[in-house]
Amino acid sequence: MDRRQFLAVGGLTAASPVLARSASDGAGTTADPGLFREVNFIHDGLGLSPREYATLLHDATTQRDLPGDNYSNGGVIEELEQAFARKLGKQAAMFVPTGTLANHIALRKLAGQDRRVLVQAESHFYADSGDAGEVLSNLNLIPLVEGRSTVALGDVQRWVELSASGRVPMRVGVLSIESPVRRRDHEMVDFAQLQHVCGYAREQGIRLHLDGARLFNLPYHSGHGVQEYAALFDTVLVSVWKHFNGASGAILAGDASFIEGLYHTRRMFGGSLPQAWPTAAVAMQFVDSYEADYARAWQATDRVLALLRTDRRFKVRKVPMGTSRFFLSVTDADAAAVRERARQQGVLLPRPNPETGEFAMQVNPSVLRTTPETIAQGLLAAAKA
Ligand SMILES: Cc1ncc(COP(=O)(O)O)c(C=O)c1O
Repeated sequence: MDRRQFLAVGGLTAASPVLARSASDGAGTTADPGLFREVNFIHDGLGLSPREYATLLHDATTQRDLPGDNYSNGGVIEELEQAFARKLGKQAAMFVPTGTLANHIALRKLAGQDRRVLVQAESHFYADSGDAGEVLSNLNLIPLVEGRSTVALGDVQRWVELSASGRVPMRVGVLSIESPVRRRDHEMVDFAQLQHVCGYAREQGIRLHLDGARLFNLPYHSGHGVQEYAALFDTVLVSVWKHFNGASGAILAGDASFIEGLYHTRRMFGGSLPQAWPTAAVAMQFVDSYEADYARAWQATDRVLALLRTDRRFKVRKVPMGTSRFFLSVTDADAAAVRERARQQGVLLPRPNPETGEFAMQVNPSVLRTTPETIAQGLLAAAKA
């Protein structure tokens, strides 16, 4: 058994709420058999409807006397913070209402006096957060490796040396790495290169931040566990809503001394929700099971793809160094019509690319709600005009 499979199978014993919910509804033990049925190839997670969310919230609040929080401190929020800190091998963690703010809070504190921050040009913080770092926190963001995901040693070295040798010598304060990279179809950063780059940065006294919004997808593809990744960095962001199905939010984990008092900065940015417990109450249900569910989801998806390949019209394109995304196309068929017919079969596809007709498919544990054979049959039927 290789390390990748070992990681995947290692967690198979964890109870999976995805499966538990589908199974109990199938047995007719809950009020609405229409819930928890859809398979989606769109979202990072289950894509819960408001009623499904409310059902899980009901479960959480009836199974025990769920402790609420006070302005995002204490109660089930603290439980979520501790659960993620343990999973990541970090001393402490803080809940932040969005990943956008979690990146910002981390980078502004890590930078200290050295406001030059190296980021990937394709990263969320550089490409999708406006100029928040510059405007709100006096950071000087330097975009690296446009059109690529992996930052090589030379890319960092160059900026460290350029900064040090200017007429006004400057130090690079932080290196921030996103992996997987959302804008690059969730391609992952090469692990060996990451080790080199992080090792060099540490020697130079540069602080390190990982935007691991989808970190928990990496072990299945790279064979390296989440703690191996987290250990390379001072701070780590993990999204709470993408894989763990909370209504919003992110976790920012690091040393106890880094996290201590950081809630004041969260509050300063208007990010201390008076009551954040409904997010944590649902996300907590997925913290232990997600990694194994994701591994099983890919195993099930590969079975679906093997079945689809028996029909020559289906074409599958995987992403080199990819994680949760693959591309699917159906030749000689109107992609929008295929999508609509698939929806009627309970399989939700993303909107097709208007030029190529390809579907950018997202693998998530919702595929575990039924069998690979049922999904494949649904798609094969949808492809027939
Ligand atoms: C890699 C990455 N980082 C950060 C964020 C921001 O998270 P949020 O939407 O919670 O602000 C996203 C959101 O899509 C993301 O993809």
